[in-house]
Amino acid sequence: MDGNGRWARERGHPRIRGHRAGAESVRATVEACGDLGVEFLTLYAFSSENWKRPEGEVQALMGLLERFLKEKTTEMAERNVRLQAIGRLTQLPQRCQKALHRAIERTADNTGLTVVLALSYGGREEIIDAVKSLVHHVQAGHLDPAMIDPDVFSKHLYTRYYPDPDLLIRTSGELRLSNFLLWQISYAEIHVTPKLWPDFGKQELYDAVADFSRRQRRFGGLTEG
Ligand code: FPP
Repeated sequence: MDGNGRWARERGHPRIRGHRAGAESVRATVEACGDLGVEFLTLYAFSSENWKRPEGEVQALMGLLERFLKEKTTEMAERNVRLQAIGRLTQLPQRCQKALHRAIERTADNTGLTVVLALSYGGREEIIDAVKSLVHHVQAGHLDPAMIDPDVFSKHLYTRYYPDPDLLIRTSGELRLSNFLLWQISYAEIHVTPKLWPDFGKQELYDAVADFSRRQRRFGGLTEG
């Protein structure tokens, strides 16, 4: 969800105003995905590298996340949205962890769109954690190393309960992956939009999905997989 800072700077506002506007785009995108029948939406809300930002910005982002979770859980529950999270969640402030776990519990039985928040998330860290988990299983005698293949490996990632993404949307025209779902996006289609995240809404999501629907997916083969 890139571009909150630039959006604020263009208006002469502090960066946090951009993040606040970004939270509104989250609401609009969740709603639009629900309307379109999307099953899984993963939002890169806070990366493992974002901890390096000034303390004031980190605190403001954590406060925004906590408020969002407290204020929007009822709306999510009403929309049959199931909330989940991936990342090194124990690094989040206690108040955020509490709000997050409450929201996850309250929406656990919902059967519509699953929204996965990536928080304190890094793709490399996730792969390292998967390797540690595999080693642990091997050492405990539960896993024969010869059996490790992509399917087995995937079962040790934070995303083991979710399918790989079909579509990756990158805002602000950035042409980088920024440590996001590095394993899982191997065959994702990539849609880059120049729109800054606070300017991303329903129409932009529809445009991205329309772009996706025109792609010929081959998964390395010659015909559609
Ligand atoms: C990147 O923009 C954005 C973030 C690091 C934070 C994203 C957070 C939100 C959209 C709001 C809170 C999230 C939820 C789920 C309520 P940037 O700051 O890097 O922008 P810039 O590249 O223009 O500086």
